[in-house]
Amino acid sequence: MTSETPNNSLTKVCQLSDIPSNDMRCVSLSDRNVLVANTSEGVFVADEMCTHEDARLCDGNLSGTKVKCPLHGSRFELTTGKVLDDPANEDLVVYPVTIVDNDVFINLSNS
Ligand code: FES
Repeated sequence: MTSETPNNSLTKVCQLSDIPSNDMRCVSLSDRNVLVANTSEGVFVADEMCTHEDARLCDGNLSGTKVKCPLHGSRFELTTGKVLDDPANEDLVVYPVTIVDNDVFINLSNS
């Protein structure tokens, strides 16, 4: 799959229209799997796996900009990646997002 990117450090994740409002999806990229959340505060992209154990956060619940793990219930703030509840105690990796037309890009150069 090729796509036009605004600059070389950006990676296309999906089309914005693929993610309904106030919903999230997991997306497989060539080197990692990410969670894309389309919230009323904006679009956020983070690593798909919970930092506690092996649970895909896109199988959990999205409430505003907070995602709740389906396995033990830790919540993460998607604007910052901060973990909000036990038992997870490591923050989630979040990526800077750029939207161009209907395309969602993330910047992997800092990760
Ligand atoms: S696997 Fe997510 S809180 Fe335990």
